[in-house]
Amino acid sequence: MAEPRISSIDGKLAEEFAVPSHVDEVKEKMVSFARLHADAGRRVVLITSGGTKVPLESRTVRFLDNFSSGRRGASSAEYFIDSGYAVIFLHRHRSLYPYTRMFLSVNMLDALQFRAGEGAPANSGEVVVDQQVLPNIAKVLRRYNEVKEERLLLPIEFSTLSEYLHLLKVAAQALSSLGSKAMFYLAAAVSDFYIPASDMPEHKIQSSDGPLQLSMKMVPKILSPLVKDWAPQAFVISFKLETDSTILIKKARRALDTYRHQAVVANVLDSRRGYVVVVTPETEAELILTDEDEKNEVEIEERIVSNLTAAHKSFIMQPVG
Ligand code: PMT
Repeated sequence: MAEPRISSIDGKLAEEFAVPSHVDEVKEKMVSFARLHADAGRRVVLITSGGTKVPLESRTVRFLDNFSSGRRGASSAEYFIDSGYAVIFLHRHRSLYPYTRMFLSVNMLDALQFRAGEGAPANSGEVVVDQQVLPNIAKVLRRYNEVKEERLLLPIEFSTLSEYLHLLKVAAQALSSLGSKAMFYLAAAVSDFYIPASDMPEHKIQSSDGPLQLSMKMVPKILSPLVKDWAPQAFVISFKLETDSTILIKKARRALDTYRHQAVVANVLDSRRGYVVVVTPETEAELILTDEDEKNEVEIEERIVSNLTAAHKSFIMQPVG
């Protein structure tokens, strides 16, 4: 298989975005994960999830953040695994995580209790889970353990934009050997603006210096080298988030025209849990949860993943042109 091309963004990445110290170690993990699952004939999806953080100072006290709870990425990871995929989960530190996401609203200590023996003092004995607080815990734990045993999930964390960009690049390189069997599902909320390392003050910005004026540079659109150079044979899905629904589809179409990838999942911030449109060069599929679906706790990610895994299957079978 041909080596990925070097793009002009590679130079910019190296110069203006600090390279994480563990990048080679992460790449090795990703390469062996890809090899393991390629040998097993499995498709692999790289999911990005959560928001990136952009520091304002090198010794960071303050930073700008992009909004994303990580729920879309974490729940999608579970549905991809159920559909036979292995998942690299590139996620923001402490954002929602597959399987444990279901218990986030529970205070751990409220879910535990002592099982005191006959005549023993209260608050003594073995600590057990209170099944009334966590009614689904056994089912979820069983599935989590199966996934762990079969090594179907590789979690990798990022916090800053620099970490995200470098780790996405090595992920693309690690998955390039899978060709069309690799999917990129870019659900993370990525900053469009940053302060280059060379322009950043080292120490905490002082409020005694008066009102703060920031000048930020545009982050290179990473979809471009990803599609053209780093993983040219892969199936690539980007997300488009807007708050104004009237421009959503136009923006999704523009992204497809610009980057020439396979699909955009378009969503509006307020309705994202119940309505998305999967836009491809030829089609627009509206995915909607009804009141009945919501009553039955159906999640829209199940529909998104079902739509995209079917499209990925056709993509793989397509003759290489
Ligand atoms: O996590 P949740 O709370 O469940 O919310 C899910 C979500 C709303 C965050 C998710 O569904 C979503 O829409 N994610 C994409 C948000 C986003 O960054 O949109 P954007 O329009 O700014 O970027 C569009 C695409 O370009 C994204 O796929 C992004 O990965 C990509 N991008 C962005 C910036 C950049 N410099 N390079 C990129 O390639």
